[in-house]
Amino acid sequence: MWKKWFGKKSASNEYDYHDIDLDKLPCHVAIIMDGNGRWAQNKGLPRTFGHRAGVETLREIVMTASEIGVKVLTAYAFSTENWRRPADEVSLLMSLLAEYLDNEIKELDDNNVQIKFIGKIDELAPALQSKIEKAQAQTACNTGLILNLAVNYGGRAELTRAVKIITEKVLHQELAVEDINETIIEENLYTTNLPAPDLLIRPSGDFRISNFLLWQVAYAEFWFTDINWPDFKPENFLQAIRDYQQRERRFGGLKNTTKR
Ligand code: FPP
Repeated sequence: MWKKWFGKKSASNEYDYHDIDLDKLPCHVAIIMDGNGRWAQNKGLPRTFGHRAGVETLREIVMTASEIGVKVLTAYAFSTENWRRPADEVSLLMSLLAEYLDNEIKELDDNNVQIKFIGKIDELAPALQSKIEKAQAQTACNTGLILNLAVNYGGRAELTRAVKIITEKVLHQELAVEDINETIIEENLYTTNLPAPDLLIRPSGDFRISNFLLWQVAYAEFWFTDINWPDFKPENFLQAIRDYQQRERRFGGLKNTTKR
């Protein structure tokens, strides 16, 4: 298992999680993979080097999440606002995504990972869309970690889309206005059938949500670190989980309240 990934990066695959309660893992961890540009600039390198290094980190965190038994990992790879970046950076990010699918799909599949995508996938280049469809189809029956990649994703765009779909249903008398509730909204989000994130990790020292999973993080626990994403190690991921396991979640209720 995960043979190819071992040794790709300096010894960071040697991590110890004996003190983590595997019965109380966050079911769904969401990550904003931030700080690639700053990591590169701090080293006097072009920003694109940071994104390449960020892909390596993603590989390691996917492997770690899969090994310890996290059910869903959602990673923010490209936002609806990231098109505002210089064309060469956008182009590199799209190429990295294509390369990631080309290079990693077999390893992911062999390790029972199911790949899903959320976002406006239909606005991506046709060749990339094909790779995404192929990756999703190839891994659709896998029962291990769900790796959910947010690409051309924005929380506001997702909610706008849901409003449009629901409005169409009302206009076609498939749905009554009085029947619209939170479940109906959730059913019309990209993340339908996925549990809400329990833990949201944001590296690189910023404390904002950046239009990520706006509806879904309503009761997520947030975990921040100054470490830039390319320097984020499995041990940092495990630390976020340890800290999560110390938190008391009340979901708007009192002590020991559980999710609905
Ligand atoms: C934010 O860092 C990161 C992104 C906008 C892209 C994240 C993408 C990757 C890690 C690689 C591509 C993903 C896959 C799945 C192959 P930033 O550029 O905003 O960093 P900065 O805030 O330091 O400038």
